[in-house]
Amino acid sequence: MDRAARQRIAGLYDNPVQRGYVQGKLASDPVYAAAAARLAGVSLPLLDIGCGIGLLGHYLHAQGHTQPYLGLDHDARKIAAGQRAVQRAGLDATMRLQQADAAELPPLQGHIALLDVLHYLPAARQPDLLRTAVRHLAPEGWLIIRNVLREPNWRFHATRIEEFFLRASGWIPGGAQHYPSADEVRAPLEDAGLRVQIEPLRGRTPFNSYLVVAQAHR
Ligand SMILES: C[S@@+](CC[C@H](N)C(=O)[O-])C[C@H]1O[C@@H](n2cnc3c(N)ncnc32)[C@H](O)[C@@H]1O
Repeated sequence: MDRAARQRIAGLYDNPVQRGYVQGKLASDPVYAAAAARLAGVSLPLLDIGCGIGLLGHYLHAQGHTQPYLGLDHDARKIAAGQRAVQRAGLDATMRLQQADAAELPPLQGHIALLDVLHYLPAARQPDLLRTAVRHLAPEGWLIIRNVLREPNWRFHATRIEEFFLRASGWIPGGAQHYPSADEVRAPLEDAGLRVQIEPLRGRTPFNSYLVVAQAHR
């Protein structure tokens, strides 16, 4: 995505702090491009669980993806900021954002995104959310997860420090609850019959982030 497109998306948000965050995030985080690459060619609605301010939806639309987008997040402030951005973009017909907990998914079947969300749920809720997400996957749909994974390396410790500051700043009230291992993410998906690929996705960050993509066996 070029600079002009990033600036146009950032300009949809309320204030200079949000706009700076959006510009920086779109410029430095490879997750939106990775998701767009997977979703290309399979036209299905997208359910974005823990959507924050809806950046994935705007990124996809700017890349020419026109399928309906529904973003859910339990943080009312982020949803309100995201809804205002959708209105300013004139995208009300294709993008919707709703305040909801990840446990309350609407009856939608399509692609599912879960980007940097899992570790904010307690360990006991994570396999439940993964199994529920699988039930909302269309037969051709992709489940796209990006998450920090628990590993004994310096990147994991750098991530924990970042999460401390995210919580202290109030951006993520409650903060991280449990960092899953690769096996803790993989097992519920494979048990549900999905083929799972896990690969590092760090961009230029020091964080221990991975992309997990899963789809039904065909
Ligand atoms: C790091 S942000 C990621 C936002 C977005 N997925 C992205 O990558 O641009 C994590 C988001 O997960 C949301 N979240 C955490 N726990 C949640 C839950 N139980 N239900 C819904 N949203 C949740 C937070 O409010 C926050 O907006």
